[in-house]
Amino acid sequence: MKILMVASEAVPFAKTGGLADMVSALSLVLARLGHEVRMVIPRYYGINKTELEQLEGPLGVPVGGHEEWSAVYTTNLRGSPPENPITVYFIDHEQFFGRDGIYGVPSEPDFLDNPRRFTFFSRAAFQLCRKLSWYPDVLHAHDWPTALVPVFLKYGERTGGFAKTISVLTIHNLGYQGIYSKDNYYYANLGWDVFYWAGFDDWNMMNILKAGINSADKLNTVSPTYAAETQTQAHGFRLDGVLRFRSEDYIGILNGIDTTVWNPQNDTYLWDPKQQIAIAPPYSRQDMKGKWKAKEALQREFNLPVDPDTPVIGMVTRLTEQKGVGELFGPAYGSAWSICNDMKLQLVLIGSGDAWCENEIKSLAYRLSNFKAHVGYSEKESHLIEAGSDFFLMPSRYEPSGLNQMYSLTYGTLPIVRNTGGLADTVVKFNQDTGEGTGFMFDDLTPRAIYDTVGWAVWAYYERRSQIEKMRLTGMEQDFSWEKSAQQYLELYKKGLTSV
Ligand code: ADP
Ligand code: GLC
Repeated sequence: MKILMVASEAVPFAKTGGLADMVSALSLVLARLGHEVRMVIPRYYGINKTELEQLEGPLGVPVGGHEEWSAVYTTNLRGSPPENPITVYFIDHEQFFGRDGIYGVPSEPDFLDNPRRFTFFSRAAFQLCRKLSWYPDVLHAHDWPTALVPVFLKYGERTGGFAKTISVLTIHNLGYQGIYSKDNYYYANLGWDVFYWAGFDDWNMMNILKAGINSADKLNTVSPTYAAETQTQAHGFRLDGVLRFRSEDYIGILNGIDTTVWNPQNDTYLWDPKQQIAIAPPYSRQDMKGKWKAKEALQREFNLPVDPDTPVIGMVTRLTEQKGVGELFGPAYGSAWSICNDMKLQLVLIGSGDAWCENEIKSLAYRLSNFKAHVGYSEKESHLIEAGSDFFLMPSRYEPSGLNQMYSLTYGTLPIVRNTGGLADTVVKFNQDTGEGTGFMFDDLTPRAIYDTVGWAVWAYYERRSQIEKMRLTGMEQDFSWEKSAQQYLELYKKGLTSV
């Protein structure tokens, strides 16, 4: 199959969250299975052009009744199978992408021209195929920034080389729908009839994700539980009805993790003789010594007393409401303060996001001796936290898939999670009678529930140590590799292809 991934982010080029990991990891597995995969993303300012090759000639993209011009750069995706490399194309448009930030910057979290930036980019994907005379069987779009791809295909583009092409839209997060003023609609070069047919209309605004959901040939989200949840009023973010309407074409496929990057037996952030990195030696179920070394290194890195017997709870997270940070760090009501005061534990966090939360975390870390936080983004520290912590806290309000809990399980770190979305699909709640399970879970998102569940985990750490150690090994046995999920995507593509 010929597959074009159209995405607003992809590792290692641009990343704000798990979407970037997913797009590249899925592409790599599909290429390893022999499919012809290509990717297209914007050439953001942070992507160094001098390391890329430029395609000859400009790319003309019809938008807003005129044509915008851009350059196209390419490279091969690192880790691609040499016999079947993945070509990545970068759409280079100075006015739209020649600035800091992917969707925004702290002073302007959602760029005012985002609807136009991503309308342009989505249309550019079609023009790129024309320029290359390469037409995919599947156009695979991700979240609202590329949700216009299925709309364009259905309303106008399904001719010529695209006559047999289908579109698949993956929903990574229903909380972001791309809702903007209708004034931006003209930029898509679609008529007002399409505005209503495709269901852009949303209380006199335009909703890009909604139109994408209505137009895609096949739809999925990133875990079975989230697929079910999103069809309910409680989790549907007002699109539950639209999703129920499409339920025959809508499934949940759990994300995998990239085991070449996230693997305690071969983690180059922790141990790489070539780069002279010796933070903690590789470890596995058979020999866990490396994990205890990582715990020591983590305590040092975060300026905590080095103590193998105090449980360390780690967090790596975007600091947004989705992640339950209000209930944890909200001034006066969040439970982090009492958790750290009442329990003998150490809490470490790396994260960035909402300004109020960054400030609150800094202030808490200043007042609590057993809470250390780095506000920012660091791959190295995220690996160290996954490896060196005893527990990993992820009290998400909703979680389409979540990658960190799977990283945790792989590293023998026990997740403490809310029973929702992909967390419910990957973590098995501890049963203290039988010792079975892989983590700790609670249902309602309240400061109290987080407090109680962390308390439960800490109690088990001190009182049920052998059960804890057994759970670590059970977690490490789980298979979260991408192969299984990639097969499900292939099936979805095939079903779509037989429908056109
Ligand atoms: P989401 O995409 O909703 O943020 P996921 O769990 O799917 O949640 O993916 C988050 C990804 O981003 C993980 O790979 C995680 O390690 C990474 N990440 C998030 N915040 C940071 C940070 N501050 N530093 C390093 N990595 C981070
Ligand atoms: C979104 C979701 C997260 C998921 C990721 C990759 O960012 O919040 O749960 O793992 O996309 O699909």
